[in-house]
Amino acid sequence: MITAAEMRRKYIGFFKRHGHAEIKSASLIPENDPTCLFNTAGMQPLVPYLQGAKHPAGRRLTDCQKCVRTGDIDDVGDAVHLTFFEMLGNWSLGDYFREEAIRFSFEFLTSPSELNIPVDMLAVTVFGGDEEAPSDEEAFRIWNSLGIPAERIAKLGRKDNFWGPVGETGPCGTDTEMFYWTGPKPAPQKFDPADKRWVEIWNDVFMQFNRRQDGTYEELAQKNVDTGMGLERITAVLQGKASCYDTEIFGGIFAELDKIRGVAPGAERSASERIIADHLRAATFIIGDGVIPGRIGAPYVLRRLIRRAIREGRKLGVEGLFTARIAQVVIDQYGEFYPELRANAPTILAELEREEKQFAATLDHGMKEFQKLVDRVPAFVEHKVISGKNAFNLYETYGFPIELTVEMAKEQNFSVDLAGYEEAAKKHQEMSRANNEQKFKGGLADHSEQTARLHSATHLLQAALRKVLGTHVEQRGSNITSERLRFDFCHPEKVSPEELAEVERLVNEAIDRDLEITCTEMALEDAKKTGAMAIFSEKYFDRVKVYRMGDVSCEICGGPHASRTGELGHFRILKEESSSRGIRRIKAVLEPKK
Ligand code: SER
Repeated sequence: MITAAEMRRKYIGFFKRHGHAEIKSASLIPENDPTCLFNTAGMQPLVPYLQGAKHPAGRRLTDCQKCVRTGDIDDVGDAVHLTFFEMLGNWSLGDYFREEAIRFSFEFLTSPSELNIPVDMLAVTVFGGDEEAPSDEEAFRIWNSLGIPAERIAKLGRKDNFWGPVGETGPCGTDTEMFYWTGPKPAPQKFDPADKRWVEIWNDVFMQFNRRQDGTYEELAQKNVDTGMGLERITAVLQGKASCYDTEIFGGIFAELDKIRGVAPGAERSASERIIADHLRAATFIIGDGVIPGRIGAPYVLRRLIRRAIREGRKLGVEGLFTARIAQVVIDQYGEFYPELRANAPTILAELEREEKQFAATLDHGMKEFQKLVDRVPAFVEHKVISGKNAFNLYETYGFPIELTVEMAKEQNFSVDLAGYEEAAKKHQEMSRANNEQKFKGGLADHSEQTARLHSATHLLQAALRKVLGTHVEQRGSNITSERLRFDFCHPEKVSPEELAEVERLVNEAIDRDLEITCTEMALEDAKKTGAMAIFSEKYFDRVKVYRMGDVSCEICGGPHASRTGELGHFRILKEESSSRGIRRIKAVLEPKK
């Protein structure tokens, strides 16, 4: 029986033997992309390369990418949904296209030395065509020639067989999806895509278009292949398990939870157990990528995950601290493949414990308070509602994320006045920017010129900070919109107004010198020898780009950047504040030159 770890090894090994370079998973937190809180697909960190930038590792890549999807967070607990998952992928950046991609997929699935799946357990879908694009006859023909009978190839529409873009704009294309029969054998001769016993296991996207802001498509100059295979799902399916929660992937976590509760292993895991396992596995990885719980953005999602898990723990009778114990199991299980988990283990455990203590202190009071609100409403009232003001009070005073209140309300047939909640929240300055949900839906940022300029300014800012404050200053995060840059760095105390003025002056001086911004590609080892700044916690490819701005700045970085510092305009710091313990945050803008 193949385990997830073996599956990962096998997949990557197969594609390496076919000329693909293995690249490491990017962080769960997109770099320089303000519109997405988390990486949701294997292709997301590769977007610049899918759009034509040269990838230092070559044109054929393979990886196992960490992903987080929070859109269906409320579905977690059922048998299939996961917040965190791993996605295996193979990539062609302007190298092979349809024919070879499908052949690779077929060989990996069916070859006796690979997954050895009998062909009669497989079915596929291809794009059936619509008014915008013709049906994918070529994909049909290739599958058929490999031995997939015509009645096992379904032609479906755009909804099923067109993938991407991740946001509103970016690379996308028609795809072909592979399905595995999980019902009683033999599988039906004719493939019925509506039959849920056919489970999708792999998706090959033929990335041919770029979707523009106005909704039109342009052909990409470089045609790519993007494939994605969810590791947890393929593992469950091949093990004949109805749910990934029944595989060894979650076995260790459940065993630890049993120990914490002092119970014998249950035959079937309850929704509470699955939510705890899913959310704390996700939280472990998210903290491992440098996020700590907070009030907005990714930190808020993290908080939600942890607090929901804690409440589910209470439902199971867990009273003491337990989240760090679960996290330790996750770190042990994944630490070899994802070394960042081991490296950041102390932070992961400490942050979970801190968050848990903080929430546990108010949780019981909050639940009592909540129950009082519920009890106050007579049973005969038809539409029972928790007012916005009360929901906000539960958040402010007891730390209940609104989503948790909604969930608790639902359990007792109440709804929550969300509009009223929003109104109450808006009055609170801090909360006014919490339009997090919007962000999930947002698109990938345009790598517009202004973004590139702000990105270059970030390098100058880091150099200036190191000059003024000392070389202990290092980047801990960066986020750029087309309006402003935000830069997090380690520094133990507030930066004084005088120091900020000096930093600003140094950046503007570098701009005034109109330094050329050069980019050199080199081996990572050589880059390190040049003394180029690298980002803590960032994992690099073996070949990297080094951006140099005269004698002022030299950093390993993926770009993009302006071509001269003179293009940047006037640099102005808007704000300096604390981001978290030991981390300061600067927001700054570039203005037209006076
Ligand atoms: N981008 C596609 C997906 O996420 C294939 O990797 O399914």
